[in-house]
Amino acid sequence: MNRGTSQCNYQEMRKLTPGGVSSPVRAFEPHPIFIKEGKGCMMTDVDGNEYVDLCMAYGPLILGHSHPSVVSVLERQIGKGTVFGAPSPEEKDLIAEISKRVPCAEMVRLVNSGTEATMHSIRLARGYTGKRGIIKMNGGFHGSHDAVLSDSSQPPKKNGILRETASFTHVVEYNSEEQLASVLEKNDDVAAVIMEPVLGNVGVVAPKKDYLENVRKMTREKEVLLIFDEVITGFRLSSGGAQKFYNVIPDICTMGKIMGGGLPAGALAGRKDIMQNLAPEGPVYQAGTFSGNPMTAAAGTAALREMTEERYTALNKMSSELISSVSDSLEDNRISAALNAAGSMFQIFFDVSAVNNGTDAQKCNRGKYTDLFRRMLDSGVYMPPAALEVNFMSTEHRLKLQKLSEEFDKNLRCIV
Ligand SMILES: Cc1ncc(COP(=O)(O)O)c(C=O)c1O
Repeated sequence: MNRGTSQCNYQEMRKLTPGGVSSPVRAFEPHPIFIKEGKGCMMTDVDGNEYVDLCMAYGPLILGHSHPSVVSVLERQIGKGTVFGAPSPEEKDLIAEISKRVPCAEMVRLVNSGTEATMHSIRLARGYTGKRGIIKMNGGFHGSHDAVLSDSSQPPKKNGILRETASFTHVVEYNSEEQLASVLEKNDDVAAVIMEPVLGNVGVVAPKKDYLENVRKMTREKEVLLIFDEVITGFRLSSGGAQKFYNVIPDICTMGKIMGGGLPAGALAGRKDIMQNLAPEGPVYQAGTFSGNPMTAAAGTAALREMTEERYTALNKMSSELISSVSDSLEDNRISAALNAAGSMFQIFFDVSAVNNGTDAQKCNRGKYTDLFRRMLDSGVYMPPAALEVNFMSTEHRLKLQKLSEEFDKNLRCIV
């Protein structure tokens, strides 16, 4: 494949922005690929190469690129105005759609990104409980603000985060009730546990049996709020996210990605008595010029309405077909790897037998993943460039299932 135009674009971008990318995860060697358009499950780069997209912008595009229902509401809305700085019916519709679907969402506040959502959910938890600490999971990602990029056991080194801030973030292993119990026992200044119900930023790691139920029980007993960060899992694992899928209801949840229909979006939602602490009703300040803007709201509402229960069933069934074919390829070719999946998300971890937490995931052979990524790219499949990311399916991948199975089989054979 000729990728000369991408390479030229990258050389220019490197002079203009750090690392040549607007978000670090997009960088890869020898250079990222510049995309000019996406339709359904396909993307086309600036050199005209076509790819089946399995990265799907890291999660938002559950209906594929440029879904007609989303495009048509956006075309209508753009002529009516893109931001008003005042409430709009579109914003009310999106909030109503979210509350209808998400079990914990007695009240919803719209923001502009997952990062904003988790940042404000932590401030809200601190304001509500009057406590300072938070507990997060090793390998859990909640966006790029100080509290969630911290670890009290590893003092920050010149990364711009204050040691004092980091001292309030305690990190425990996912799927370990013991570690969580131990931190909760030793520390009575914890406002919240914030966690992805399914880890989605170290590949995919699903909860072991009863784990989420136990976390719910332990946090309730200690009067610590439970925040599910459903920025990835919300509207992906089911219409009501992981909390509906596993039937474990947090006090607060954060959302993003899918709820914006492909536009920048975020929300926090939760119990009414907690949410009422947000300004202007309560003392916890939170605000945003573009929050609830009618473009995002219209696109998000259209996307959520498209995703009927039948569509979720079909998407999860189609994803499990591909995942079982990848599993067969791994087995037939005697490749040592763990294949983790949840609904329409999956990832392959080379040279490890099982991945149940962040530490397990870090042990995988990333070099082999990079080899697979490059081979798949040359075969016209765009997987997430980094080993500890997730392959996302959309409803539109049904048209390319056969190709995906064949390409995985062909390319996995070459991984040694
Ligand atoms: C679980 C989770 N939370 C929060 C975020 C941050 O969201 P955003 O990139 O919209 O700020 C991400 C981003 O990937 C995420 O995966």
